[in-house]
Amino acid sequence: MLRSVQHTLCKVFCWRSIIKKMSLFIFLLTVKHPLILDILCLFLQVTCNSFTISDGEMQDVGVGLYPSMSLLNHSCDPNCVIVFEGKCLHLRTVKEIPKGEELTISYIDVMMPTRQRQNQLKRQYCFTCDCHRCLTGDKDKDMLAGDEQASKSMEMALASLKELQSQNKVLAMCKALLTSSQLPDRNIHQLKVLDSAMDACIKLGLWEEALLFGLRTLQPYSLYYSDYHPVKAIQMMKVGKLQHYHGIFHDAMVTLKQAFNVMKITHGENHTIMKDLTELLEDCTSAISASR
Ligand SMILES: *[C@@H]1O[C@H](CO)[C@@H](O)[C@H](O)[C@H]1NC(C)=O
Ligand SMILES: *[C@@H]1O[C@H](CO)[C@@H](O)[C@H](O)[C@H]1NC(C)=O
Ligand SMILES: [Zn+2]
Repeated sequence: MLRSVQHTLCKVFCWRSIIKKMSLFIFLLTVKHPLILDILCLFLQVTCNSFTISDGEMQDVGVGLYPSMSLLNHSCDPNCVIVFEGKCLHLRTVKEIPKGEELTISYIDVMMPTRQRQNQLKRQYCFTCDCHRCLTGDKDKDMLAGDEQASKSMEMALASLKELQSQNKVLAMCKALLTSSQLPDRNIHQLKVLDSAMDACIKLGLWEEALLFGLRTLQPYSLYYSDYHPVKAIQMMKVGKLQHYHGIFHDAMVTLKQAFNVMKITHGENHTIMKDLTELLEDCTSAISASR
């Protein structure tokens, strides 16, 4: 029985769609067995207390239950982050925390304007955030910079981009969108298109183009993600790797060092990803001294 419950829960997470969750809900409610009610409770607890497990590169790889972690409240400007090493969860502080101050993490991606963040928190975790970023609408103007209509159409185009199957099609659409766009790169919808373009190029082995798209994302990433944010560091590392691959060792060194300084805090010196980063940096150093 438990196994089948677990199986159902796993499937629920994979769908990640409220509508499908709702239909499961309605189905469970129609079967008024006491056990079903227990399952329903369990289900509600799990959806609110689970963590999406990401690998070192912040790609989602699953969902896990870490009961002690569920004690942490959310902030859109948290003082802690969670990074994974295999199945191991690390909670790390990313700010000076005065004695007695509450530890917080962000339950959601913070690269969203206030209203969207609040909607997601309400929908998924059933509370309204009142952190300083939410109260001041911090960075909302930058996130939606540019013509309002153009920004909305870019957001809609982004949704249809996700439907595309082949990377060639994704790249073609991204290029068409970016060519016709009048939006600044700090507009988050434009930024996500740049990201998709970079990822499509990487998958297609178009390293040079990937680098050009990647470079455009770095400044906006720094604007939206706090000083010590793992997502920012991973993005820098991606771009640094592309520069390294291109033999632009000086630039690679600068970018990878920036990533290193962030990851020292967000991932910790002993995280496996730091070994990769150290090797890349050493490679740059020896390439630069060899060319002298
Ligand atoms: C989380 O927030 C609630 C409501 O503000 C508070 O009662 C609780 O103590 C907080 N939890 C922690 C671990 O600080
Ligand atoms: C890293 O690992 C070394 C050796 O295992 C250990 O001595 C050191 O305390 C660790 N550093 C951190 C920051 O965890
Ligand atoms: Zn908030």
